[in-house]
Amino acid sequence: MMRKIIFLPIVALALFSSCKTKNKNSTILSTEKKWWKEATVYQIYPRSFKDSDGDGVGDLKGIISKLDYIKSLGIDAVWLNPIYTSPQKDNGYDISDYENINPLFGTMEDFDTMLKGFHDRGIKVMMDMVLNHCSNEHKWFKAASQSRSSPYYNYFHWWPAEKGEPPYRWSIFDDKAYGWEYNKPTNSYYLHYFADFQPDLNWENPALRQDIYKMMRMWLDKGVDGFRMDALAFISKDTTWPPLPKEYNGNWGLYYASGPKLHDYVQEMNREVLSKYDVATVAEAMGDVARVKKFVDEDRKELNMAYHFEAIDFGYLPGEYKMPDPNGFDLVKWKNVYVKWDSAFIDKGWGTMYLGNHDQPRMLTRWGNDAPEYRVASSKMLTTLILTMRATPYYYFGDEIGMSNIKFDRVEQYNDVELLTNYAQVKAKGGDLKRFLEGMKISSRDNGRTPMQWDATANAGFGSGQPWLPVNENYTTVNVEAQENDTTSVLNYFRKMIRVRKENEVLVYGRFSLLDANNPDVFAYTRELGDQKLVVLLNFRSEVKKVNTEVDLTKAKIIISNYAVASTDGSLQPYEATIFQVN
Ligand code: GLC
Repeated sequence: MMRKIIFLPIVALALFSSCKTKNKNSTILSTEKKWWKEATVYQIYPRSFKDSDGDGVGDLKGIISKLDYIKSLGIDAVWLNPIYTSPQKDNGYDISDYENINPLFGTMEDFDTMLKGFHDRGIKVMMDMVLNHCSNEHKWFKAASQSRSSPYYNYFHWWPAEKGEPPYRWSIFDDKAYGWEYNKPTNSYYLHYFADFQPDLNWENPALRQDIYKMMRMWLDKGVDGFRMDALAFISKDTTWPPLPKEYNGNWGLYYASGPKLHDYVQEMNREVLSKYDVATVAEAMGDVARVKKFVDEDRKELNMAYHFEAIDFGYLPGEYKMPDPNGFDLVKWKNVYVKWDSAFIDKGWGTMYLGNHDQPRMLTRWGNDAPEYRVASSKMLTTLILTMRATPYYYFGDEIGMSNIKFDRVEQYNDVELLTNYAQVKAKGGDLKRFLEGMKISSRDNGRTPMQWDATANAGFGSGQPWLPVNENYTTVNVEAQENDTTSVLNYFRKMIRVRKENEVLVYGRFSLLDANNPDVFAYTRELGDQKLVVLLNFRSEVKKVNTEVDLTKAKIIISNYAVASTDGSLQPYEATIFQVN
């Protein structure tokens, strides 16, 4: 009798290919199948990908000319950074018209051609949605900043000057780190968590929310397949503006994210927009596990995926802006961050895996080793890590050829508002600017924004005009053309690794368990699904390192390795990455 009762629901679940696997520890592993869990997402930063018209800035026609290359990678979806009309003071994260394409990037016709080009090749397209703030050149803000009686005044957060100074709020992109800006015509201050040209939108106002939903529907009706939701965790504010608690100390993940109505808004957005389409959504979700999980717990009907910051911000000195610890990062602790976030989504929700994006330096410099002798091996090793976690991989353009940080020496070489405003803050405090700039060679965002290196011709084949950011001078050797026909290249390893993930469902849905947890040099883990078990070994050091897997690898099948002869005796070669099948 008991058996029957259990058996029937299992059959029903299996029929819908949507089942949960019971693991050895009897935790239920979420294995509900979705295209966006199985997809590898390739992130394109349009400014830096390919310039078709010689103005030094990448554009949509440039992307169109590279569609076959993108298809050849084997990826399933792309995420495009913002291409909407914008003064570009934060490279498109300052939107002045959400419903049009910035002429710098092309026209709506180019967009339609590009979208069709991706769809014809079976590739989905995710757009960046910047919903916490817009540009001060948006028509809403232009009207709002003229008069308190404008219908758009309440599209923003204001503090009337007759009440005195506003309660302190911090800003991430401000010379004085101050989040309020005085506006004379209305005699009030507006709130900006980011730069003063990025006023925060007031989600308390239902009219604003409806305008946003309408705009999102417009893009979905055009056929886009999903959204990456920029700074979404910040959209709700406590508008009683209480003083920040003393524990605050710059912790934006805890004290700026997750305002009181955040999830009411996201649920409303889901009801009114997202639930009506088959789309994928990913939130930039700051905060701890409990907060981030709320976005993606299926029962809450919000979003699909979230990315957190704990692993990517790891190894910076406390209390300082992205200042790398001179002693490097502690691999044992870093591995535990992954264990923690894997278990966060073990039964519900879904995470992402990334080691670089437009807000980060190049993964090779930050997490691998960009010295010429280790570039190839360590790029491949990091690629293996990204594509073997139980989370959707987000892979940043250029990492597939092993691009590295440009490492500017002087502040004048930088373009990025984040760097320039933080430099000003260090300067204002009388800080050590030389030390700051040294740190930024490792961590600043412009390192990840230099033009794509297509070939060894002028400007790395990016375009005929002077590129908006200089090309990394290693382009003569590190470029797509040089790697295309080399079967041992980083590029071809990436393609192979994507095939490995596609051919082994265990790498998507299988349980993740750490091996040799206290090993300070090697990241080792198993992935298990049904009776398939893979062992992944990644050496993070430039020397031979030992790993204790407690498994006899001499008889195991090698699925892939970044060395011609993989080690089966538990001694890994420098930056070796090998995946074994052990049953
Ligand atoms: C997000 C974006 C970043 C941008 C910021 C402000 O973090 O990824 O590039 O500068 O939001 O919009």
